[in-house]
Amino acid sequence: ARIDLAVLDEVDSTNAEVARRMTASSSPVVIADRQTSGRGRRGRNWASPKGQNLYLSLGLTIKGGFSALDGLSLALGVAVADALGQSGISDIGLKWPNDLFAGQKKFGGILVEIQGELQEGSVQVIAGIGLNVHMSEAGGVDQPWTSLALRWPGERWVRNQLAGRVIRHVLMAVDEFEAGGFLCFRDRWQQRDIFRGRSLVARGGDMTGYGVGIDECGNYLVDTAEGVMSVRAGDISLRIS
Ligand code: BTN
Repeated sequence: ARIDLAVLDEVDSTNAEVARRMTASSSPVVIADRQTSGRGRRGRNWASPKGQNLYLSLGLTIKGGFSALDGLSLALGVAVADALGQSGISDIGLKWPNDLFAGQKKFGGILVEIQGELQEGSVQVIAGIGLNVHMSEAGGVDQPWTSLALRWPGERWVRNQLAGRVIRHVLMAVDEFEAGGFLCFRDRWQQRDIFRGRSLVARGGDMTGYGVGIDECGNYLVDTAEGVMSVRAGDISLRIS
């Protein structure tokens, strides 16, 4: 696959930069050394200090319309975890829907944003991936966090190499997702599920139960006193109680 790769010193957000480039290119990819307005899910800020981490976004055109997008961001979580497998790390956890975890701490996240619908039912999306690589202190991160180098010290964390591996695995995952949907990723996702068997509470506190995995669309299943409930990403967030 051909991509148009730009490596920038500084940008507001690599997701925003890819959005600007998507009119001129069908496959823009942007990496920045620093973001001045890095963004996370649910309107949160994403700590983006200079020279330490990976901030990467890809513009993707996905065949099949909006309904085909269910599960895409989970599939990308599997792709990034698999890419890290190439650096010898096999025990990356996924926190539904798509946070990347090392032990009990988050070191990476994925922000999928819909850019628009093209003719004949394909959708343009921006997939933004943030990985804490060398970050060792962060102002204003509001949850337990770590970085790859803190958790797995050593010489192996070269950002360019990591970026190449992540891009390759994401592009392979998109092909696989277009051909077979989320179902191709479900087992691999569940093997990394950090909620499974844990006692969970929905944000707001109005639902509690045990994590039992995901359905074929990527909704999370919680075993509650009233039976198994399905939670849709974006509607409710879950945490370990
Ligand atoms: C999350 O877990 O909340 C998602 C975080 C996504 C952060 C990445 S960093 C590269 C890309 N550009 C952004 O502004 N956000 C994503």
